[in-house]
Amino acid sequence: MTAEERIEQVVIFAKEKRDLALVESPDYAARLKYRWQHTLRVVHYGKKLAAKENANAEIVTVACLLHDIAKLSDRSRNVEHGRIGAKMAHPFLKELGYAEEDVENICYSIASHVDGKADFEHPLTIEAQIVSDADKIDRLSSYRMMLALGKFVDSEYETFIATVKKRLSKSQRASKEWRVQTKSGQDLFQQQISAQAVFLERLIADYEMTLSLEF
Ligand SMILES: [Fe+2]
Ligand SMILES: [Fe+2]
Repeated sequence: MTAEERIEQVVIFAKEKRDLALVESPDYAARLKYRWQHTLRVVHYGKKLAAKENANAEIVTVACLLHDIAKLSDRSRNVEHGRIGAKMAHPFLKELGYAEEDVENICYSIASHVDGKADFEHPLTIEAQIVSDADKIDRLSSYRMMLALGKFVDSEYETFIATVKKRLSKSQRASKEWRVQTKSGQDLFQQQISAQAVFLERLIADYEMTLSLEF
């Protein structure tokens, strides 16, 4: 099997999990759709970082596709979802014919993507660092920010701006506290933060201007 064929099988596996969750929990349709689109964006960032960091692109692609498999299966949305997902992926990856060390690297990348910890011994790999970075880059996407703000757009202007300010401090905190591990990941991450800051600060400035216009 070629790398492309293996990746195709991984996509089928992930989509099957998603579609099963959709049948079991139709109320989660929007959440599952978001999760799948997030997964595809993480793959996109992962591939970019793998090329720049000289990492194994197939391992990164497969691990990015499976990094949130527990959430895609609606098994878990908590901090454990990486470790749960790695256990779900392990037998499938072996069956697909990956060498033991590749299975372990992919599973380590999935398991540790949330908080840097796996529940089995494995050295830190560049592939795991990239999966974690790619995930964090998308967590600060403009779309995700708009989804969060959108819930408040029909509230009182003041309430909406309070939410905007919270979002701005969240992204400023992320800039200092989130552990982005690769150099090229850090560049993309900072671009996301700057794009958010420009827009959020503009929203606040518009509000302040509006207040100043009161007679
Ligand atoms: Fe995750
Ligand atoms: Fe994720």
